[in-house]
Amino acid sequence: MKNILVTGGTGFIGSHTCISLIEQGYKITIIDSCFNSSPSVIKNILLITKRLKESNLITFYKGDIRDKVFLNKVFIESLKENNPIEAVIHFAGLKAADESVRIPLIYWDNNVYGSICLLNIMEKFHCRNIVFSSSATIYGNPKSIPIHETFEINPINPYGHSKAAVENILREIYISNPKWKIINLRYFNPIGAHESGDLGERPLKNEKNLFPILCKVAYEKNRILKIFGRNWPTSDGTAIRDYIHVMDLADAHVKSLNFIFNNEPQIMNLNVGTGLGLTVLEMVETFMNKNNCEIPYEFCDRRIGDVPILVANNKKAISTLKWQPKRNISDMCLDGWRWQQKVLNEI
Ligand code: UD1
Repeated sequence: MKNILVTGGTGFIGSHTCISLIEQGYKITIIDSCFNSSPSVIKNILLITKRLKESNLITFYKGDIRDKVFLNKVFIESLKENNPIEAVIHFAGLKAADESVRIPLIYWDNNVYGSICLLNIMEKFHCRNIVFSSSATIYGNPKSIPIHETFEINPINPYGHSKAAVENILREIYISNPKWKIINLRYFNPIGAHESGDLGERPLKNEKNLFPILCKVAYEKNRILKIFGRNWPTSDGTAIRDYIHVMDLADAHVKSLNFIFNNEPQIMNLNVGTGLGLTVLEMVETFMNKNNCEIPYEFCDRRIGDVPILVANNKKAISTLKWQPKRNISDMCLDGWRWQQKVLNEI
C-alpha cells in the first residue's frame, strides 16, 4: 500500500481528498498545524470510508511544514515503519486574498517558505512526486474566458503571488533535476461537502467565501447576504465563478497521483473547474430553490481584489487524467447545506 504524505490534510480540500485516497487503496500520513482545522476530522474520514477499525490507514502528526526537524522526523518514521512516503499532496497554506494584502509576510512565510522546507526534505529523501494545491487566482484578471493553462500568470494579491512563486520554484526544481514528477492543480471555486453529511468545510476563523456565508444567512434568518457589486460586465451584473464540488476536486487529486505513478517524470499545470460559470445571483437562486430556504440580500460596493469572471477551460485535466466533474451545482448546494446545518446546529 503506497504511503502518501498529505500536508494540510485536516483542512477542507485535504480531508475530502483523504477519503478518495483511502477509497483508491492508499495509506495516508497527514501533517497539519491545525491552525484553521481540527484533527477530529480523521475519525470522520475513517467513518465515511468504513475503515474505523483500521486506524493505521492514517498516521497523523500535528506540526508546521516550516519546522524542518519535524518534517525530517515524519519522513524518518515512515522509513522505520517500512512504508516510505512515496508522494506528497501539498495543501498546507493560507488562502484568504484580502488578508494576504494586510499581512503579506505571513503569506510568503507560510506558503512559500513552508513549501521550500517541504521540497528540501523531499529532495533529501528522494521523494520527488508532488501534487501541488495551486489556484486560479494566479491568472489575476484574465483577458478572455474560459481560462486556458497557457494564459499569462498575473496575480493581483500576495496570496496569488505566493501560489505563483511556488509554481515557479517547482519548475526550477524540475529543470535542475528532471527526475521530479510535478502536477500543479489550479483550483477554481471548491464548495459543497461529502454527500454523507459527515464531512465538510469547518473554518474556525472568520469566513469570507460566498458559499459558507450563504449557509449562515439561510440558517440564522436575521442576516443579509452582501453581494459585492452589481455592475460587473455579466448578464445580471454580479460576478461569475466556476464552482466545483469538493469531491470532484478530491477525485482530481487522486487521478493526478495515479498519473504520476504511471508516467514518466514531467511538470504539468491543470485547471480544475467544471467549465461552467454562475453569477452570484444565480448561485443564490439555485441555493434557495434546492434547499427550500430564503436568502435575503443587498448590493454593496465591489470587494477589493475581486475580478469579474473566472471560468476554467478544463479540457486538459479531463483528457490527461481521465477525470470528469460528476456533480452539478444542485449537488453542491444540497451536500454543502446538509453539512453546514449540522455544524451550525452544534454551535
Ligand atoms: C476567494 C479568493 C481566492 C481564493 C478562494 C478560496 C478573494 C478575492 N479571492 O475566491 O483567492 O483562492 O476564495 O476559496 O478573496 N461574494 C459576495 N458576497 C460575499 C462573499 C462573496 O458577493 O459575502 C462574491 C464575490 O465577490 C465573488 C463570489 O461571490 O464574486 C465568490 O466569492 P468567494 O467565494 O469569496 O471566492 P473568490 O473570491 O472567487
